[in-house]
Amino acid sequence: FARLGAESLIVDDELEPAQQRYLEDALQARVVDRTQLILDIFAQHAVSAEGKLQVELAQLEYNLPRMRGMWQHLERLGGGVGTRGPGESQLESDRRTARRRITLLRRRLKELEKQRATRRRERKRNETPTVALAGYTNVGKSTLLNALTGAEVSVEDQLFHTLDPTTRGFDFEGRRYLLTDTVGFIRRLPHHLVEGFASTLEETLVADVVLHVVDASASDDEQDRQRDAVGDVLHEIGAGDLPVVIVLNKIDRVDPLGRRRLSNRFPDAPHVSALTGEGLEQLQAQLARRF
Ligand code: GTP
Repeated sequence: FARLGAESLIVDDELEPAQQRYLEDALQARVVDRTQLILDIFAQHAVSAEGKLQVELAQLEYNLPRMRGMWQHLERLGGGVGTRGPGESQLESDRRTARRRITLLRRRLKELEKQRATRRRERKRNETPTVALAGYTNVGKSTLLNALTGAEVSVEDQLFHTLDPTTRGFDFEGRRYLLTDTVGFIRRLPHHLVEGFASTLEETLVADVVLHVVDASASDDEQDRQRDAVGDVLHEIGAGDLPVVIVLNKIDRVDPLGRRRLSNRFPDAPHVSALTGEGLEQLQAQLARRF
């Protein structure tokens, strides 16, 4: 590790706080586990007030059992065995502050959740057909939302670029439809993160149909893995019973032979390109027929 000149170790799994501490002491380097890495990316990409609060809450909950260290130098000032040094009490007060903040964040999130529920009821009352976009991170959900609705949701070639659900409308043959973008899914999303972001994903639950976007240009194996991951998350948030339509996006990257193979693999899935606009009208027509 030292020979490589590495400064941090990233572990593609969840670590117990004790494991993380042990590794940090042994390597004298920063150790980041899968959950923390995902949270860091989430933190960079959260835009809405609610998204930010959710990330902060998840980070605090993650950090609470891991707080230590900053006050270690004070601990040595303490007396003999069993006495509490000033470092320890400082750590306790830090923990108390964190816990208070957690309580506050939970309360604020609950309020926001109520507001969102009201908006959802409103939508239900209007009986506007609602479609949720779901799919592995970076498959092109936001691009597709923009292409179908003419919206300007920012698109980046980045993982989890969309953290906040965005809902936009589009008209097709005189009828209005709502389309909601959701956070990009990922395999092995840490369990408590699923919980934390479930309220965001809940927008998916109220949809009449889920458009499961698949990257047409990915290999068969990768498509299968991504589809399984998305299916698992949908199931976990209780959306397992919603009707799902598979959409093959990025078809512009696939040659005619590849397209024929995809048609065999996914007989009913429309081929679209959010980038070139290919197949979008057929997709809208297919949705309209469903409703
Ligand atoms: P997350 O927010 O991470 O879940 O990503 P997303 O699924 O919303 O993907 P996004 O729309 O941000 O697109 C990811 C990348 O794929 C961007 O670089 C897009 O330009 C590109 N992309 C999207 N649709 C297409 C498409 O139809 N064809 C091609 N070639 N590229 C596309």
